[in-house]
Amino acid sequence: MARIVGGYATSHVPAIGVAMDKGLTDEPYWQPVFAGYEASRKWMAELNPDVAIVVYNDHATAFSLEIIPTFALGCAASYQPADEGWGARPVPVVEGHPDLAWHIAQSVILDEFDLTIVNSLEVDHGLTVPLSLAFGQPDAWPCPVIPLAVNVVQFPPPTGHRCLMLGRAIRKAVESYEQPLRVAVFGTGGMSHQLQAERAGLINREFDNRFLDLLIDDPDTAAAISHTEYLREAGSEGIELVMWLVMRGALDDQVTAVHRHYHVPASNTAVGHLVLENAAAAPAVAEVA
Ligand code: DHB
Ligand code: FE
Repeated sequence: MARIVGGYATSHVPAIGVAMDKGLTDEPYWQPVFAGYEASRKWMAELNPDVAIVVYNDHATAFSLEIIPTFALGCAASYQPADEGWGARPVPVVEGHPDLAWHIAQSVILDEFDLTIVNSLEVDHGLTVPLSLAFGQPDAWPCPVIPLAVNVVQFPPPTGHRCLMLGRAIRKAVESYEQPLRVAVFGTGGMSHQLQAERAGLINREFDNRFLDLLIDDPDTAAAISHTEYLREAGSEGIELVMWLVMRGALDDQVTAVHRHYHVPASNTAVGHLVLENAAAAPAVAEVA
């Protein structure tokens, strides 16, 4: 049977993608951001998953106010990197895994999570930046990807609790897939940031680090954080953190944090990064810093 072998959470700041694409990662501004991704890139290379489920949000790129799916699961064979206004990023086409994706859709929908199925989707920085951070700059992404787009752009987004429960349903779906695939789950976005209005630039280190602690050891408490609390404490875009709860739900109740990184600033955002393994499993790869 398939199984979840690791969780990888990271901010998806578009300027991180630009820094990688333009070879700026060693510049003084970016060096401390990228230093926190070196160990986890090795971890990912050793983990070498067969498939990655990437929980991300579309930033009014593929979707618009015309159609706003709360949860949209990509069942396509491939996904083109989107042009977000300055040309598509020079990154590989994202290959999908339709068979596992349809299996997840069936399992999760019959478990009463009413996903939207998407068979045509261009993926924006929310998905491609985490892939770049995790896998570097290969000619082709090393594994197929199943995108799961979550609406965190237009109120009302799903609750953190719903996201955690969906993650648990995805775990059940993966574990009932007959091929012995090793699946990594990504949660993307966050941490605290606000891109507009009076509080633009808001960062809250205390909130972010408490969220990281809770995500590891007490996800049910993290899942109880309300929309108002995200908005007040983590800024208007802090709500992206609910996507980390989908990833967390896909892992076992007990996990080990094998890597953690937090840095301010990266663009307008507090960059957070967490790598988790199931505590019960033998280490998926040798421990990293
Ligand atoms: C920034 C962060 C985001 O999560 C995003 O989607 C767009 C911009 C930023 O920090 O600039
Ligand atoms: Fe974002």
